[in-house]
Amino acid sequence: MRLTVNGVEREFDADGRTLLVHAVRERAGLTGTHVGCLTGDCGACTVVLDGRTTKSCSVLALSADGGEVETVESLADGDALHPVQEAFWDEFAFQCGFCLPGMLLTAKELIESTPDPTDEQILAAINGNLCRCTGYNTIVAAVREAARRVREAG
Ligand code: FES
Repeated sequence: MRLTVNGVEREFDADGRTLLVHAVRERAGLTGTHVGCLTGDCGACTVVLDGRTTKSCSVLALSADGGEVETVESLADGDALHPVQEAFWDEFAFQCGFCLPGMLLTAKELIESTPDPTDEQILAAINGNLCRCTGYNTIVAAVREAARRVREAG
């Protein structure tokens, strides 16, 4: 099968049981995407598939054949963090970091569609991303701050 992952076209073998999360981690070697529950609940495996955030444990790799995937590794530009990453760092919005890849990609998607989100909109957007460390207040603050930085950057 073929996938474009973070702009790079890759070919690899997958059988009918290979999950997209395993293809991304084990075939493409991009381990920033985490494996949590494998039941579609936690959001740690979130990637962007054909432009939409997707829980990659809930997608068979073969069903994404020919598609485009963006992972958390696509966010930074070399040493320059994405504004969403910077805001999470500055607002202390993660502790263990396990949920972080999904939170970042979900936050980025929200800000692209809703440049000035309310706290309610932020909470609704991250509804499918579980964090066991922060209590969510710092995450909401980080997404709000990230949105402000993206708006300011134009
Ligand atoms: Fe996919 Fe938890 S590992 S939602």
